[in-house]
Amino acid sequence: MSVWAILVAAGRGERLGLDRPKAFAKLGDEPLLAEPLRRLDACPWVDAMVIVAPPGWEEPAILLAEEEGCDKVRACVTGGETRSDSVRAGLTEVPGDAVVVLVHDAARPLVSDEVVERVLAPLAEGWDGVVPGLPVGDTLKRVGSDGGIEETVGRAGLWAVQTPQAFAADVLRRAQANGAEATDCAGLVEASGGRVKVVDGDPRLLKVTSEADLATVREWL
Ligand code: CTP
Ligand code: MG
Repeated sequence: MSVWAILVAAGRGERLGLDRPKAFAKLGDEPLLAEPLRRLDACPWVDAMVIVAPPGWEEPAILLAEEEGCDKVRACVTGGETRSDSVRAGLTEVPGDAVVVLVHDAARPLVSDEVVERVLAPLAEGWDGVVPGLPVGDTLKRVGSDGGIEETVGRAGLWAVQTPQAFAADVLRRAQANGAEATDCAGLVEASGGRVKVVDGDPRLLKVTSEADLATVREWL
């Protein structure tokens, strides 16, 4: 079966607040994007890859892939206004005979072969999609605009989900048609009636949002 990875890197990184998109923030001597790019390229379960780059950053993304010797990269496309738009842009480059699409946030640099293997396995049992997640540990409160707690939300059965997320290619294509929107791809597939399973994620799949997250990932490396 052929597995195509879509590496979404087209966000602006507003919360990081740098003079460049988050994918090109410095992580050591390299842009952040280099890490997930190299890892997915070296992953034995990934056959081919599409990079979704921020507008105006397509050329640097392609050059980076070349410098890193990432020979599974088949295309680099320009991202859209939302994450769902960027996934849609990436999917246009995934050929019709791809069986599985793996969507990964470039903002989670420390993707591993093990987690890719964990999200791919249940597809063979008939699941439409599989996502990595961690059970929520903190107590959850719904808070009003004045800062007052409105309610305590039971955390039983609540998971914080991560990427890489794996889908049967045809299911993801159908789910993202007609400009559907969700904060992750699983949300699109759920909304279109697909069955999505959660498997164990990894704390190291931390999504870099702030400067502190960037420092944490640098330390882990
Ligand atoms: N992403 C994307 N296209 C968008 C928005 C997000 O490809 N229009 C990607 C980001 O590059 C990131 C992932 O989706 O790899 C998760 O998004 P997020 O962490 O929110 O990144 P940004 O949108 O860049 O950050 P911010 O929300 O702070 O601007
Ligand atoms: Mg964002």
